[in-house]
Amino acid sequence: MRKILITGGAGFIGANFVHHWMNAHPEDEVTVIDALTYAGVRRSIVEFEARENFHFAHGDIADESLVGKLFAQHDFDTVVHFAAESHVDRSIHGPDAFVQSNVVGTHVLLMAAREHWSRQPGRFEAGRFHHVSTDEVYGSLGPEAPAFRESTPYDPRSPYSASKAASDHLVRAYHHTYGLNVTISNCSNNYGPFHFPEKLIPLSILNILHGKAVPVYGDGKNIRDWLYVGDHCRAIDLILQEGVTGQTYNIGGVCERDNIETVQTLCGIMDRLFSEDAALAERFPNAPASSGGLSADLITFVEDRPGHDRRYAMDIGKIRKELGFVPEESFESGLEKTVRWFLANEDWWRPLLDGSYEAWIAKQYVRG
Ligand code: NAD
Ligand code: TYD
Repeated sequence: MRKILITGGAGFIGANFVHHWMNAHPEDEVTVIDALTYAGVRRSIVEFEARENFHFAHGDIADESLVGKLFAQHDFDTVVHFAAESHVDRSIHGPDAFVQSNVVGTHVLLMAAREHWSRQPGRFEAGRFHHVSTDEVYGSLGPEAPAFRESTPYDPRSPYSASKAASDHLVRAYHHTYGLNVTISNCSNNYGPFHFPEKLIPLSILNILHGKAVPVYGDGKNIRDWLYVGDHCRAIDLILQEGVTGQTYNIGGVCERDNIETVQTLCGIMDRLFSEDAALAERFPNAPASSGGLSADLITFVEDRPGHDRRYAMDIGKIRKELGFVPEESFESGLEKTVRWFLANEDWWRPLLDGSYEAWIAKQYVRG
């Protein structure tokens, strides 16, 4: 039985991981720490709050005293660290929070784990600190360049990716200097349930439902390697069970798509689902498909993001060979699952919009 601390468990991937872990390992003791920033949604994991083996701490990972108390109270043997500021566009507007949460916050967790585990014989080697990072630390690929490998030199180019790179280096430094039992995973773009609607896929879904423009930055030819979030959660579980201390594992969907193709595929799925279910037109009268139109007509090219990385792609050879990981979801099946989830869970996303869709969108760091 593990005693596991999940940081950022009310965020997109963290919440999916909480669902995964509570279902796959129902006997484990799980504690979530989350600051409930704009991106933290407590109701994503509320169904677990009544369970005796689940605890929720509302607080900041950079709060040394709180983190120390949680280690003392729950005696964690495992940390899975998701908490971070995660949106590139926000990091362009305000990098400070990214340095504070992603760099300082990660360091506070590392210090607490080292201190707590050093105090007990045997615990230091056994306690596992898993750090969740991103492909963005590797920089931007040319069209013909081979996909990122674990040995690709770091070349972060946005305040977000720079802060994640700094946190990765700190985690590795704690392994090399103090022998902390760490693993790191660098993952490509995720999508799926509980995705905060500032990112491309959920934003496009909600914009289509409201009949609003779907903003595509620049020429729409930037490429991302899309991974269904459930596949990411399985990969992290595998790393926790079988990953080797000090090692980094790249995780991706082997699914490179440019942004225009991504939104066009999404539009096609939405139009088909509307044509199959007449009730959707009543619920979302402004969606183009409700009056026989095409969602793709909403696609609008807008000003590009400064420093917009052109292409990301992950070589997942290492995790496939060493841990047997393969993504199960195809892009089309994963996207359809995601759209169906947003259609079925309006009570999850509607409160995020804070009343009026127009007022909400004006407050987001969405370009265009
Ligand atoms: P998210 O923005 O949806 O969620 C982040 C969560 O962390 C939120 O619940 C927020 O309240 C919490 N948080 C932020 N700062 C905190 C702090 N100082 N203390 C406590 N909690 C804090 O992000 P996400 O998309 O779920 O990403 C999770 C992790 O995965 C991040 O580390 C991110 O860098 C990494 N990642 C994300 C993707 C992706 O496609 N979303 C891809 C690769 C890696
Ligand atoms: P995003 O979901 O913000 O993830 P990341 O920047 O971490 O890759 O963006 C995915 C891609 O979509 C990226 O190339 C930027 C682009 N994009 C748009 O074209 N329009 C949008 O409204 C958003 C949010 C992103």
